[in-house]
Amino acid sequence: MTTTGGKGPAGPDGGSRAPEPGEIDGAPEADASRTESNGSGTPGGGPGAGEGVGTLRRSNGAGAVGVTVADPAGSAPGPAERLAGGPVMLGQIRRTVTVTLDGTEVRIPEGSTILEALHREGTPEQADTPTLCWAPNMDPINACRVCVVEVEGSRALVPSCARKCEDGMEVRTATEKVRHSRRMVLELLASSVDMDQASADVQRWMTDYGVDPDRYGPPAAPAEAGERDRRHAGHHHAPDGRTRATVAQPVKVDNDLYVRDYSRCIMCYKCVNACGTDAQFTFAIAAAGRGFDARIATEHDVELPESACVYCGNCIGVCPTGALKSVAEHDKREADDWHPDEESVTTTVCSFCGVGCNLELHVQRGEIVNVTSPSDHSVTYGHLCIKGRFGFRHVQNLPGS
Ligand code: SF4
Ligand code: SF4
Ligand code: FES
Repeated sequence: MTTTGGKGPAGPDGGSRAPEPGEIDGAPEADASRTESNGSGTPGGGPGAGEGVGTLRRSNGAGAVGVTVADPAGSAPGPAERLAGGPVMLGQIRRTVTVTLDGTEVRIPEGSTILEALHREGTPEQADTPTLCWAPNMDPINACRVCVVEVEGSRALVPSCARKCEDGMEVRTATEKVRHSRRMVLELLASSVDMDQASADVQRWMTDYGVDPDRYGPPAAPAEAGERDRRHAGHHHAPDGRTRATVAQPVKVDNDLYVRDYSRCIMCYKCVNACGTDAQFTFAIAAAGRGFDARIATEHDVELPESACVYCGNCIGVCPTGALKSVAEHDKREADDWHPDEESVTTTVCSFCGVGCNLELHVQRGEIVNVTSPSDHSVTYGHLCIKGRFGFRHVQNLPGS
């Protein structure tokens, strides 16, 4: 898996932003490239690039997990100290290139994407570039185009999440053309998809960009259960001109662990890649159909228990809109018993096997309602198995709980 850009939060409540230096856990290669990014050896200045490894130290501190961590605030150990601690993990040595972000020159490790440059070296506004199909713990998918920027000399807008920086590249992030394009992406998605449970970042971007899906008219009637799944590729019927097309349809509840609410699906492909080559390598789901009838489906549209799904829930973990969620969350929302404002998150270590995956227990009103893993954790990179993701209900039955 590509590890450029480090690992960070993803999913409905994770948003999409660059990980802070202190959030990097056991990902020395990521922080070593960060060290190079300002050409000053350590974030915020300090020793030269050749001494950047001096900021990597063994992690024996309480609560820390991983082989080595970068500690920008720590003192750099000398050579003897480093050798005494065993093999030193060196970050990948990467040349830097110079790019201009809205008129300001910055240096960034060669091979970085424009989005990584914006996250690492940009202003807060530039770092807040909207994304939907990108996640810091996944390879770029390049599907939604909400992250586009202008690049001098390029005929079309380019997706910043996937386009690599080139030396001398001039990037513009806030032109009228960029803002209009981002608004149209968000608006067309919101016109046909229920974005009510999308991440807080997505909600904020829709407001910031002035998204107004109602100008396309009232939504068309929802499809009946299974109707969209039966549509023939390439046979999309023209809209009636009075209503806006919609992907609304009943929620698919066919197992005890998670639901698929494709009325909220923006076809970002994150779940497909998480189930496939980005994490799980199970390939239980894929895109079916074409055009507006495209949808995420199991093989032959069979129900999940008959599919190849192993219920790892990694698709849930990356879904940005709430289309995929645990049955527990779905039921609580349906019962008007969902309280995200009161939610606390406690990090612990999974007790089911010896791998040592970090778990984040999401607790509402004294009850575990979801389990995730930190996207920057060097064991999981945010991905879990069925036991870690769903095997928490026995905790509620402990005496005194
Ligand atoms: S739960 Fe895991 S195996 Fe099943 S569809 Fe999602 S990612 Fe694939
Ligand atoms: S269901 Fe899959 S394709 Fe649809 S929004 Fe969620 S992650 Fe993206
Ligand atoms: S976030 Fe860049 S194309 Fe989707």
